[in-house]
Amino acid sequence: MFIDAADLDPAATYRLLVGSVVPRPIAWVTTGRAPKPVNLAPFSSFAWVSQHPAMLGMTINTRASGPKDTARNIREDGQYVVNIARDDLMQKLHASSEWMDPEVGEAEALGLATSPSRVIDVPRLRDAPVSMECVYDRTIVFSPTGGEFIVGSVVGWHVDEAVLVDGRIDTELLRPLARLAGPRYTTLGTVTELPPVPGG
Ligand SMILES: Cc1cc2nc3c(=O)[nH]c(=O)nc-3n(C[C@H](O)[C@H](O)[C@H](O)COP(=O)(O)O)c2cc1C
Repeated sequence: MFIDAADLDPAATYRLLVGSVVPRPIAWVTTGRAPKPVNLAPFSSFAWVSQHPAMLGMTINTRASGPKDTARNIREDGQYVVNIARDDLMQKLHASSEWMDPEVGEAEALGLATSPSRVIDVPRLRDAPVSMECVYDRTIVFSPTGGEFIVGSVVGWHVDEAVLVDGRIDTELLRPLARLAGPRYTTLGTVTELPPVPGG
């Protein structure tokens, strides 16, 4: 079956994207500098866009009523934390995507403890095995219906020593979660290690 992209409306395009680009890592983002509450939401249109400095990007869609709290807070405060969830936090991660009034902090409402960050003022999730403190860099808008691509630089890493082996993050200890299409998730499957490729 061939589908001409020109025949697709935004909803149909979105369905093909989220079904094709799978599984997606999830940025579980804390925002909100005191006195604001700690806002928490997951974003799976997430990737790194620079290795050094480490820079992360995610696409945040705009609601008909205006920007999502995450995008608004990042722009207002210039800082945020990208936390990586362990698979046992799946239910809470999913619940944190529910719309809540901006006055309500999802972290507290869901009973998730936070810890202060080191470099920035926005707290991180205490029980995430990895948290990356980020400083906002830029927003790129590629199209009128495509959302905003928000990019930040990682200025500090919190890595739980329990997931480190010889100074590297061990994925099987990290137990990351990934998103599929719709409200569907997956956990780490079989890991296969191949010999390195010369010059690769
Ligand atoms: C696993 C998962 C991934 C999501 N990824 C995105 C995304 O990449 N972009 C987006 O705009 N919304 C995404 N959402 C929806 C947001 O999490 C949701 O709109 C949330 O309420 C935004 O919260 P906020 O208003 O506090 O920022 C995702 C939801 C889930 C459950």
